[in-house]
Amino acid sequence: MKGVIFNVLEDAVTQEHGAPAWDSLVQSSGASGTYSSLGSYPDSELMGLVMAASGALGAEPGEVLRWFGQRAIPLLAERYGDFFALHASARSFVTSVNGIIHPEVHKLYAGAACPHFHFHDLDDGRLGVGYRSPRQLCRLAQGFIEGSAVHYGEVAEVEHLGCMADGDPVCRLAVRWTA
Ligand code: HEM
Repeated sequence: MKGVIFNVLEDAVTQEHGAPAWDSLVQSSGASGTYSSLGSYPDSELMGLVMAASGALGAEPGEVLRWFGQRAIPLLAERYGDFFALHASARSFVTSVNGIIHPEVHKLYAGAACPHFHFHDLDDGRLGVGYRSPRQLCRLAQGFIEGSAVHYGEVAEVEHLGCMADGDPVCRLAVRWTA
């Protein structure tokens, strides 16, 4: 996982819980704690930090990932404002992830392995989102989607219709946005 993700996690934890909380997560998980945005670090190190936060907060690891995704969006908006400025709604922003955002991320960060999403309209008007990645970070994706809604002054209702964690080949989310 690219160092920039660790940088954003550190900023999110420090903003909400203070610098000592980040130090304590680093210590208890055995992570290195020092990340260059361009560097690559083991996925297990990110999950170690998530598990340490889960233990400290008494929250499910998936909830920690979702929280991180939500809090990451304002921090990403500071770093990559252009990706947000191109869009007037959260749906437009989120569905640009395959065509614009992650391809640009690949150019900026050599070796990034960003997931590809499958978007399709569901019969009930919601947006179907298919996600498959060996990292199984669907709850992080959910948090990104919810955080994006907040950025555009909207609310996103995200339902998990299927999950790799339950043995499904792909995670399936259904999203409804309201103004
Ligand atoms: C400004 C917007 C965004 C930026 C700059 C960004 C950047 C990144 C970067 C740098 C990674 C790490 C890749 C790696 O280390 O291999 C990543 C991973 C990821 N991104 Fe994005 N991203 C953005 C928006 C989004 C959105 C809107 C979604 C969801 C719809 C999303 C979903 C994910 C997920 C789930 C991962 C984890 C990797 C995996 O699942 O395998 N990202 N992104």
